[in-house]
Amino acid sequence: MIPWSNGSDCMNLPNLKEAGKRTKQKIQFIEEDYTLDDSLKELGMGKKYYVKTYGCQMNVHDSENIKALLEAMSFEEADNFEEADFILLNTCAIRENAHNKMFGFLGRVKHLKETKPHIITAICGCMAQEETVALALMKKYPWVDLVFGTHNIHRLPYLLEKSMANREQEIEVFSKEGEVIENIPVKRDSKYKAWVNIMYGCDKFCTYCIVPYTRGKQRSRKMEFILKEIEDLVQKGYQEVTLLGQNVNAYGKDLENPTTMGELLEQVAKTGIPRIRFMTSHPWDFDDHMIEVISKYENIMPYVHLPLQSGSNRILKLMGRRYTKEKYLELVSKLKEKIPSLALTTDIIVGFPGETEEDFRETLEVVKKCEYDSAFTFIFSPREGTPAAKMEDHIPLEEKNQRLYRLNDLVNEYANKKNQEYLGKVVKVLIEGPSEKGNLMGYTETMKLVNVDGKEDLIGKIVDVEITDVKTWSLDGKAI
Ligand code: SAH
Ligand code: SF4
Ligand code: F3S
Repeated sequence: MIPWSNGSDCMNLPNLKEAGKRTKQKIQFIEEDYTLDDSLKELGMGKKYYVKTYGCQMNVHDSENIKALLEAMSFEEADNFEEADFILLNTCAIRENAHNKMFGFLGRVKHLKETKPHIITAICGCMAQEETVALALMKKYPWVDLVFGTHNIHRLPYLLEKSMANREQEIEVFSKEGEVIENIPVKRDSKYKAWVNIMYGCDKFCTYCIVPYTRGKQRSRKMEFILKEIEDLVQKGYQEVTLLGQNVNAYGKDLENPTTMGELLEQVAKTGIPRIRFMTSHPWDFDDHMIEVISKYENIMPYVHLPLQSGSNRILKLMGRRYTKEKYLELVSKLKEKIPSLALTTDIIVGFPGETEEDFRETLEVVKKCEYDSAFTFIFSPREGTPAAKMEDHIPLEEKNQRLYRLNDLVNEYANKKNQEYLGKVVKVLIEGPSEKGNLMGYTETMKLVNVDGKEDLIGKIVDVEITDVKTWSLDGKAI
């Protein structure tokens, strides 16, 4: 059964309890070519769309699928939301401020819609998978025409047709484990670097995190489809792929014929794509074979994003992270030993319920030991329906803010120190385009942003760049 067009006639509202269920049921793979009914192919003729994307790379890549679906319906991309006939917000639910940003923007859309009532407004992504959000949209935002979730992006053309025809609020959000759907068209943002999903969902259920509820069960794509996609990118001249998943190191474990991330990385390396990145790595599944493969192939970039979350074993346990500070540090030592040019970045949460000053200091200690190239740091944000949201939290916000400042100070110190090591060196940079400063910009193998003095014909190429100046967050250099 091809699932593109077969929706149901009733509303499908999200249900967090259902979304958190995991069964032993086999994952369904949908591998047919994606087809659109002829009636849909011209529905967007003469109309423009605007997609606003929040959240992680997975959402960015979903938006690339969404744009391709809309263009298959003859919509054209608008430069800004004011000139669009269809406005879609692809949302993120990871922290409260992601919510606030999206509702803020929705206010602006409402304002626009008062003068242009024909505009169709839609919301999709991880927030749409949240019960409270769907209910709020029903009650307080009845003018939002369409709400769909992360499991039915491929149904957008059919849902949009319905919205355009009857202008009643349509909500279709499925709370299920999910399928693996191949062949959804894609309009990539870049001609040089591409996002490639290798797996969907997450089964780790860290106690603070909403993702296992919004994205479903962990399900890997079959290796043959991933390799085919990458071979096709090589043919088109792409220079870089980033393999995407919430826990890429667990890749393949759930397949009927199980395989590993190390195996996948090796096969991807053999496609000859000049640069391979992957994210995000969970320390739990990082095995020795994977480290060996990274160090063996020159086209696998020496860059690992390895979320720590906390340096206190007590807090790690409360977070359900499945490793100790000692195990994490052991892994980092091994990585640094086997991959000498390694750049290491991380994610850290401060102010998790019950985090004491002592716990926090342990986090600072780990940061000192790891000397991260950079870190994304967050204040704990309770997400409704997750276990941590129910934990008692006595730490005042002011204290959490102070911890975040202290942590950021330390992180910046190392970021700066790491960047200083580049001064005067010659590094390889994939030039992506013009920079804001009027030069060119690109990233080193170790993911450092470089503003490059050079001619425009270098765009899309990997070039040698001499680093002439160093800032905390970027480098300056000239092409040689
Ligand atoms: N799958 C990745 C993380 C994805 S979410 C991993 O396991 O490493 C990206 C980051 O957001 C997380 O690493 C975490 O640091 C942060 N985060 C997730 N939930 C959060 C919450 N409720 N409050 C604050 N930060 C959170
Ligand atoms: Fe969230 Fe943990 Fe899964 Fe990462 S591993 S997505 S933090 S539940
Ligand atoms: Fe946000 Fe969903 Fe990604 S919650 S971080 S967009 S998986």
